Parts: sequence; C-alpha cells; structure tokens
Amino acid sequence: MDETKHTRKKAEANKSKKLMLEIKDLRKSFGDNHVLNGFNLELFEGENIVIMGKSGSGKSVMIKCLVGLMAPDSGTIKIMDRNLLGLDQRALDELRSEIGFLFQGSALYDSMTVKENLEFPLRRHKHKFGDLTDTTPLVQEALDSVGLVHALNLMPSELSGGMKRRVALARTLILKPKIILYDEPTSGLDPITSKEIIELMRSIQNKYNTSSLIITHDVDCARVVSERMILLIDGINYAEGTFDELKTSNDKKVKAFFK
Ligand SMILES: Nc1ncnc2c1ncn2[C@@H]1O[C@H](COP(=O)(O)OP(=O)(O)OP(=O)(O)O)[C@@H](O)[C@H]1O
Ligand SMILES: [Mg+2]
Repeated sequence: MDETKHTRKKAEANKSKKLMLEIKDLRKSFGDNHVLNGFNLELFEGENIVIMGKSGSGKSVMIKCLVGLMAPDSGTIKIMDRNLLGLDQRALDELRSEIGFLFQGSALYDSMTVKENLEFPLRRHKHKFGDLTDTTPLVQEALDSVGLVHALNLMPSELSGGMKRRVALARTLILKPKIILYDEPTSGLDPITSKEIIELMRSIQNKYNTSSLIITHDVDCARVVSERMILLIDGINYAEGTFDELKTSNDKKVKAFFK
C-alpha cells in the first residue's frame, strides 16, 4: 500500500467531516473470476475521489454494488450511516434518490424527449418530491445547470455526444443527490468537450456541495477533478494519494498507470 504523509494528514483533517460513504472489505467473484478481493473506500462530505483501474479491473462492478444493482459476495457498504446491504426495497429506493449515478455511456432513453428523460427519475422517486403536477421548473433548473435549456424538446438522436452527456448529467442532478457516482464521464468525447464536462462536474459540486466518486481512464480528468485518487489493482484499493503522489510513486504497478 502506498500510504503517504499527505494521506495521513488528510485522514486527520477528515475526522471532523461527515462520512458519506464507506466501503469495507468488498468482495465479488463471477465463478473463478475474482474481481473484487477486499476493496475499501471512505468518501467524505464535499470530497471528490477518482478511481482508476485498467479495463476489466472491476470499477463498474464496484459502482453497481454501490447502487444496489449488483449484490456483492461479502463486505459492507454504508451510505450516510445506513447499511445498504440490509435495506428492504423501499428503504433502498429512498437511499437511491440520494445517489446520482451517471452511467458509463449516457444511457438516455432513445424514445423519450430530453424533458421526458429528466422526468423519469422524478416519477420513480415520488417520495422525495411528492406527486408533481408540473415538473417543468425542476426540469428547467437541471437543464440550466448544464447549459441546455434550449434542448428541452429534442430527442436524444438530435443531440451531439457532449450534449447527451450533459443531459445525462442533468438527469442525475434533478433529484439533488448528495453523492454522485460518475462512471467514465468523459469517455468517447473529444478533448475539448471532455474539458467542458469536467468543468461542469466541478461547478455542480460547488453549487450543490455534492461528494463524488469518479471512475475514469482520463488522466487529465483525474488530475483536475480530484483531491484524492485510488488505484484499483488486483481487486483492492492498491494505492491512494493525490495525483502527484501517485504519479511519482516508485511502485511498479502504480508506475505502469502513468506511462
Ligand atoms: N454480470 C457479470 N457477469 C459475469 N462477469 C461479469 C459481470 N459483470 C462484470 N463481469 C466481469 O467482471 C470484471 C470487471 O468488469 P467491470 O465492468 O467492472 O470492469 P471495468 O473496470 O469497469 O472495465 P472498463 O474500464 O472496461 O469499464 C470483468 O472481468 C467482467 O467480465
Ligand atoms: Mg466500466
């Protein structure tokens, strides 16, 4: 493990902060494929953590466990002090409305307009906003946060890749989640659009004071967006630290990442 002075100092500072998410000893295998082998993570209020790991290392599996889309074999996941794995469906749904999930790719519903895409989570999580007769103000606010109010009535097929990602982000934001999970937010986008999305992620964090987990291959995204990084290697949180600390690490496996 690459534990550095800085990380320890940070850990001291975090003691006074609220723990939003805690993963302990998470394990998941598919037959002989042991994907997660005891992964740990702590995410504090207002913090952004980037998780990097090579393709197939289990990043998406981890995030799916976090939102209850996949059941881990063992381990604990605590979200805002509630134990995710012991919740019944109703409690799980309620907790889910506090967690925004930006899927890998944008995963918009192709047969729905932008507005309908954004209304979808509002209908699913009625307990949070009640039975809304007019969703327009919430839809407009979310679209405004990503600079796309004019796209309200467009179909996904009429949007560029960057616009789709923005709409997906607006759909994530509309429930005003306390935690946002981003699975490869910039993949498939050109460098300029990627930069815009990264800016947007930062402005959203400032505006709503969310905590984020960001999974990315994009080294620029990792550098700009996070205070702390975790490298997922061999199914564990193999190394942690700031971008600069990890970049200058002498560990062979860590070094391989920055080549
Ligand atoms: N539902 C599933 N059934 C069986 N194996 C699975 C399933 N989901 C994921 N896996 C396996 O788990 C491993 C990790 O997959 P995962 O999608 O988490 O990788 P990843 O780190 O997100 O990769 P990428 O960077 O390419 O998105 C892979 O070997 C994959 O084949
Ligand atoms: Mg993935």
